[in-house]
Amino acid sequence: MEELEKVKDKIKDFILECKDEKSLKLLDLLPTGKMLRSKLILKIAGVNEESIKLCAIVEMIHASSLLHDDVIDEADTRRGKPSINALFDNKTSIMFGDVLYSKAFTELSQMNKDIAYTVSNAVTLLSIGEMLDVDLTDSFNTSYEKYLDMIYKKTASLIEASAKSAAILSNKNRDKYALYGRNLGLAFQMIDDILDITQDSATLGKPAMLDFVEGKVTIPYLLLYERVEDKKRLQSLYKKSLSKEEEAWIKEQMFETKALKDSINKAKNLGNEAIQAVKDENNESLVEIMSAMINREF
Ligand code: FPP
Ligand code: MG
Repeated sequence: MEELEKVKDKIKDFILECKDEKSLKLLDLLPTGKMLRSKLILKIAGVNEESIKLCAIVEMIHASSLLHDDVIDEADTRRGKPSINALFDNKTSIMFGDVLYSKAFTELSQMNKDIAYTVSNAVTLLSIGEMLDVDLTDSFNTSYEKYLDMIYKKTASLIEASAKSAAILSNKNRDKYALYGRNLGLAFQMIDDILDITQDSATLGKPAMLDFVEGKVTIPYLLLYERVEDKKRLQSLYKKSLSKEEEAWIKEQMFETKALKDSINKAKNLGNEAIQAVKDENNESLVEIMSAMINREF
């Protein structure tokens, strides 16, 4: 997509403005992801100078949050490549995250004040969401409400803010687009949680079946725990590095109890609700973005 190249160029321009060689070098080492937030913004607001700038700001905030997250999660890979903390060290990952984050905020402060408020408020939620995520790995969480609140803050809030800001930029109904973005974000995280179980490491670009080992009781595990007969066995595998047999048992139970299928259905229902919210907007690409996101393989 040509317009995504414009976003990447804008990010590069912003970092060039910082006049720092090391930041430029580190930027080159950052693998670009799916750029879901940019695709969404551009489909809502169209391609113009302001929308490209908004995309660059949001992608920089997102990238900085992942640089910090990889330190917090002690992750060696990001998008199939060595993470910055693995290539260099934790300090570099945090500090470069701070450069991206603060430059994004400098630019955000020059935008429309409702957009600046919406995006910066989402970053507070994002940060709280990350704390909740870490706290929820203390012990086996069985609360769906806590899980939902955490994924809303950690993942959906910035996607919601992206959609809402794009609507503000293009004088569209901000509430409808915010709801679409919120549900897209919730469904995105649920699909992520499902792919952790259904895909292999090569496809994911990170180790598979890692969430449960890391103490994350994600949506498929929440449903599995409710339904599985041998709850004690499931609990005994929590936060343990799993043998092939143990992995196979979990997967088998995920299928047998329909925990996986119903997790996918939950994501699809959120998707349908989102599409309903924007159906009068006659923007077919919003349906495409949602179904591509739900049907993705990594
Ligand atoms: C990835 O989650 C993490 C996030 C989406 C948000 C991380 C947020 C912060 C670190 C706080 C905000 C900080 C700044 C500088 C803006 P994950 O670990 O579940 O997913 P992964 O498998 O992709 O790592
Ligand atoms: Mg992580």
